Amino acid sequence: MTQLPGLLDTEAIRKDFPVLDRLVHDDRKLVYLDNAATSQKPRQVLDALSEYYERYNANVHRGVHVLAEEATALYEGARDKVAAFINAPSRDEVVFTKNASESLNLVANMLGWADEPYRVDSDTEIVITEMEHHSNIVPWQLLAQRTGAKLKWFGLTDDGRLDLSNIDEIITEKTKIVSFVLVSNILGTVNPVEAIVRRAQEVGALVCVDASQAAPHMPLDVQALQADFVAFTGHKMCGPTGIGVLWGRQELLEDLPPFLGGGEMIETVSMHSSTYAPAPHKFEAGTPPIAQAVGLGAAIDYLNAIGMDKILAHEHALTEYAVKRLAEVPDLRIIGPTTAEDRGAAISFTLGDIHPHDVGQVLDEQGIAVRVGHHCARPVCLRYGIPATTRASFYLYSTPAEIDALVDGLEHVRNFFG
Ligand code: ALA
Repeated sequence: MTQLPGLLDTEAIRKDFPVLDRLVHDDRKLVYLDNAATSQKPRQVLDALSEYYERYNANVHRGVHVLAEEATALYEGARDKVAAFINAPSRDEVVFTKNASESLNLVANMLGWADEPYRVDSDTEIVITEMEHHSNIVPWQLLAQRTGAKLKWFGLTDDGRLDLSNIDEIITEKTKIVSFVLVSNILGTVNPVEAIVRRAQEVGALVCVDASQAAPHMPLDVQALQADFVAFTGHKMCGPTGIGVLWGRQELLEDLPPFLGGGEMIETVSMHSSTYAPAPHKFEAGTPPIAQAVGLGAAIDYLNAIGMDKILAHEHALTEYAVKRLAEVPDLRIIGPTTAEDRGAAISFTLGDIHPHDVGQVLDEQGIAVRVGHHCARPVCLRYGIPATTRASFYLYSTPAEIDALVDGLEHVRNFFG
């Protein structure tokens, strides 16, 4: 078995993930390499979810009965866990949403409805990048269409990194918000936050970071990032679906208007007007995803027990091994950085002129799960002149043997298509 320095004890870790024992297509061992789409869930998270429903299920912040108080404590306890996980200065800066897309839409809508000095209008500019997930493009396009603001973006270099050579022309005195991804879901690139934040701060623009592909894989410190908003989702980090997070600086969350109205986000309501609860509740209208937040809390406990530094080192070792092994496959072209430096553990590639959907299907027949398509980042495919890619993405339970299986599987694909 291939041993690499920095690997976690995957034999022990994999025992926590029941689904990893599955056979697919009758007798094929599952090789799950679609972790950038969603991660698998450990027994500890599954148990926390069923325990919540079996023992505590009640609505939060509403009842005076025992179950309501316990459910509220669990829900708010999950907020404490998230705040500590991202080193937030205050638990009140953690807003629960249903996913990262909702978090990013929330920021765009807050700014669209805001008063000065945050208001986005026809005299202002919004800056994103060409490597964004659609969830960090479309909300800004909608906002630009609604307000008349100008949407600008950083382009990409041939090796899959942000082209910041024109940073002073892209981020200007007119820029209200710069929103960009920390780790690209399609290219794997880790972006230079510091340089972008420095320029944004020079012109007084807000910064929003999409950390969906970072939070599961590396220590995330919102204070060190110096951003104003950070968005991520629970299901990619061993948590359930249906729970996302928006972290925002306290004074911004206090100043900015809510997006969704409803129960629980108010202070008082009359038939003429309403006043709002303090943040974060101002942004959590209606019954929130209670069990999902509890599940995310359990996922955070699980990741913390292993250690985010160790998870990062594990994935770095796997990524180094993977780029080396994939380079041995004839006609394979990595779309994105071709070394493990400043890149995450999602690797997209093309294989000659075999369509990625065919690659994915033949891999699937061998039990190997990858994602194919444009990965909700179609502008990246347009930039590199390709219709789609095949993407393999790793996590804390991934092994070098699974990378070997992928490389063997790709050889099979090549033979299959002659
Ligand atoms: N954003 C997810 C992915 O990259 C769904 O696959």
